[in-house]
Amino acid sequence: MDGNPFKPTAGKMPPVLVGRQLIIEDFREALRDGIGAPGRIMLVTGQRGFGKTVMLTEFRKIAKSEGWLTISETASDGLVDRLALALDPQDGLRVAGAQLSPAISAGGLGSLSLGGITVSHEMAPLTLRTAMDHCLAGKRTKKGKGVLITIDEMQSASREDIVAIATAVQHVIAQSDESDIAERDKRGVAIVFAGLPSMVNELVNNNTTTFMRRAMQRELANVSVPEVRDAYVKTIGESGMDIDKDVADQAARISQGYPYMIQLVGYYVWRSARRRNARSIELQDIRQGEHDALTEFVQAVCAPAIDGLGASERIFLRAMAESSGQSGFGAAGMAKISDIVSASRHSRSWVNKYRAILLRDRIIEVAGHGYVTFAIPHLREYIMSVG
Ligand SMILES: Nc1ncnc2c1ncn2[C@@H]1O[C@H](COP(=O)(O)OP(=O)(O)O)[C@@H](O)[C@H]1O
Ligand SMILES: [Mg+2]
Repeated sequence: MDGNPFKPTAGKMPPVLVGRQLIIEDFREALRDGIGAPGRIMLVTGQRGFGKTVMLTEFRKIAKSEGWLTISETASDGLVDRLALALDPQDGLRVAGAQLSPAISAGGLGSLSLGGITVSHEMAPLTLRTAMDHCLAGKRTKKGKGVLITIDEMQSASREDIVAIATAVQHVIAQSDESDIAERDKRGVAIVFAGLPSMVNELVNNNTTTFMRRAMQRELANVSVPEVRDAYVKTIGESGMDIDKDVADQAARISQGYPYMIQLVGYYVWRSARRRNARSIELQDIRQGEHDALTEFVQAVCAPAIDGLGASERIFLRAMAESSGQSGFGAAGMAKISDIVSASRHSRSWVNKYRAILLRDRIIEVAGHGYVTFAIPHLREYIMSVG
């Protein structure tokens, strides 16, 4: 028998990429439709564990197989400089250094250090722009194709970086109209950003980056349970283990179609059967797998989601967790807003304020008029358990 086929690890490609055909199609189309296709600037959002990082990997695989150059980056200090270097390994840094006038570097403007060369933030758009131009003019990009840049963890990008990238991409798009190369032969830039849902506010409502508003936005949501079941049957079958369709269906229901949970449940269910030296997954493995997967899920998803919140958001969520019992919707985790008001001991407007923030950050969801529900599975139980 093979090793465990499931991959419950951040950023690791799953054995079957469940339920992402539509977004993949959008992306393929964008590459083929040429410069100006909406999907060439894409914003992929989703909570932790929804598969943003693997989506970017998949996009790069597709682009590579179509003859595109690909660059993979993660937002953090020095993003623009790393991009410039990746786009233009020969001149990326030289260009950056050469454009730095002494007057500016001494003027106390924001600057950062990179291997002994200081690059001014104010110069960043120009630097990146030049690097993009060089990249598209050079041998590494092909006629009618171009370069795909993927940037992960975009919620951590600085405003300067966002502006620099937006300006450079916009420049390249505008410039392509001035060239007399046939449209189908032009080389272009495709760029995909991935990040938490909260990043959309930063990016899209930031008036210096209007171009982000024109980006194609795709939110990664849960995938359908029957598709998860079919993926289980396939993956488990190919690993040399047996599973009944009904048993696979139970496992799929436990995952609720949450991508990370799909891998966790698969992994622990499979492990349970192997530990019994069984060749087939049975209901007892589902029970064991559910327990192990949940423990892991709470640690990896619920805890970090709450850690990132402020004190008021936590008060709201605690009141909401208590109220979802009161409203008689305990199982579904639904809570009535008026119950949250009394449980939180705050005003209605205070509750409305934090309701809006938590909705925006996809921690909670609207569940009919006057009700909210948790957007992350098992979050209610977790909040109750941490007190
Ligand atoms: N469409 C999918 N189908 C099945 N498993 C998936 C899917 N997308 C992601 N996964 C799995 O979910 C986990 C989290 O994926 P990742 O890309 O790291 O999420 P994010 O970057 O959104 O936090 C990984 O274990 C990955 O294998
Ligand atoms: Mg990720």
